[in-house]
Amino acid sequence: MNVEIALLPDEILDKDISNHLVVIIDILRASSTIVTALSEGANSVIPVYSIEKAIKVSEDLCSEQVLLCGERNGLKLPGFYLGNSPLEYIGKHIKSKIIILSTTNGTKALQLTRKAAKIIIGCFLNIGAVVSYCQNYNKDILMVCAGDRGNISLEDTVCAGMMKYLIENRNNGKTPPLFFNDDGQIAYFLYRKFKDDDDLIKVLETSVWGKKLKEKGFAKDLVFCAQKNLYKTIPVLENDCLVVADKF
Ligand code: MLT
Repeated sequence: MNVEIALLPDEILDKDISNHLVVIIDILRASSTIVTALSEGANSVIPVYSIEKAIKVSEDLCSEQVLLCGERNGLKLPGFYLGNSPLEYIGKHIKSKIIILSTTNGTKALQLTRKAAKIIIGCFLNIGAVVSYCQNYNKDILMVCAGDRGNISLEDTVCAGMMKYLIENRNNGKTPPLFFNDDGQIAYFLYRKFKDDDDLIKVLETSVWGKKLKEKGFAKDLVFCAQKNLYKTIPVLENDCLVVADKF
């Protein structure tokens, strides 16, 4: 099993990923929001990068079950029901809803990886479940960090490094050696730096986007997104919709 990490989605543009399981990582905040929404009872999440297309999809579906949601620059879009704070996706208003979600980096990364054999969503909130899913999948895996508007992001890289560490240390370290590319080694070394403190909140508060979100009044989101294994849900892309994956 090869496990590769792409620190930016653009790295994989020319790569044949038709046999890969792709894990999309956007800690702040698309992955964390999608995992929360599905864990809290949403029916599905339809990721759409373009705002115009998101509006069109919601008009076409024309149902009370549909919630049009998303952000630009971290803030809820005018006329949209919810923004991209995972905390907004907890409560009765989410149950059984179809969420159309447009975000800056996360949904773009999803769009760029559509040719993969399978796409799932990972973050700290569901990291244990994602690692088990990857171990059982037993084929080539590509973790794609969404980054921050074309720049590598600290929190996505640390999460990818933690996934590498957890995958390698399965079976009490008796796992046969896996191939990891250099992005994977970089992510792992970075994770080691923060592993000693075991202080993910520090990672999120140090990152460029984390600081911006704090300035915009979303400090609670950083604390929420830094939690490990709050959920066991794995969102998987099926027919352009993210739904809860069946357990292996
Ligand atoms: C994104 O997908 O770009 C982010 O989730 C932005 C945000 O934090 O709202």
